[in-house]
Amino acid sequence: RDRFIGRIQALARAHDQLLETDWQSADLAILVKTTLLAYYRDDEIDRVADGPPMPLTPRQGLGLALILHELATNASKYGALSTDDGTLRVTWDEMQVDGRPHVRLSWRESDGPPVTDGAPKGFGTKLIKRVCAYELEGSAELDLAPEGLTAEIVFPISKGE
Ligand SMILES: Nc1ncnc2c1ncn2[C@@H]1O[C@H](COP(=O)(O)OP(=O)(O)OP(=O)(O)O)[C@@H](O)[C@H]1O
Ligand SMILES: [Mg+2]
Repeated sequence: RDRFIGRIQALARAHDQLLETDWQSADLAILVKTTLLAYYRDDEIDRVADGPPMPLTPRQGLGLALILHELATNASKYGALSTDDGTLRVTWDEMQVDGRPHVRLSWRESDGPPVTDGAPKGFGTKLIKRVCAYELEGSAELDLAPEGLTAEIVFPISKGE
């Protein structure tokens, strides 16, 4: 039940952001920062999250809110946000894939508790991949390396519409 409520709350925060722009757009930078505010102080966020403003459609905004919520919840249960020594770095930028602008979002955890190698498997991971494929029309790679979990999410953005 708590997990379900957490997901609804993540969506509710994204809805709030959308309402502020008359349901026109959400911004990736703000979504990442609001997600991380549950785990970091205000003045720490810019050290953890780094990337340019990136306008998203409402659909992309809601999808990403869920994805970021799953990643952050996992980091706080098993990964870098579960210990004092762990570090998290979230960065994003724009790149071209087949001549079309895409966003590449990278989530890197390190120095957390020891991690079992491989790909994470569970409902949260499945949700991330499905939302990425169906809501963002992009892809998500999740990898559990010895130093921590990394996720790379790539999806197309439309510009100048
Ligand atoms: N950031 C992380 N660091 C270390 N291990 C992780 C991390 N994220 C996920 N894992 C591992 O991968 C498994 C699968 O994660 P996933 O989110 O799919 O399921 P869950 O968290 O166990 O359940 P749910 O997400 O449905 O609450 C976890 O149980 C954990 O062992
Ligand atoms: Mg999970």
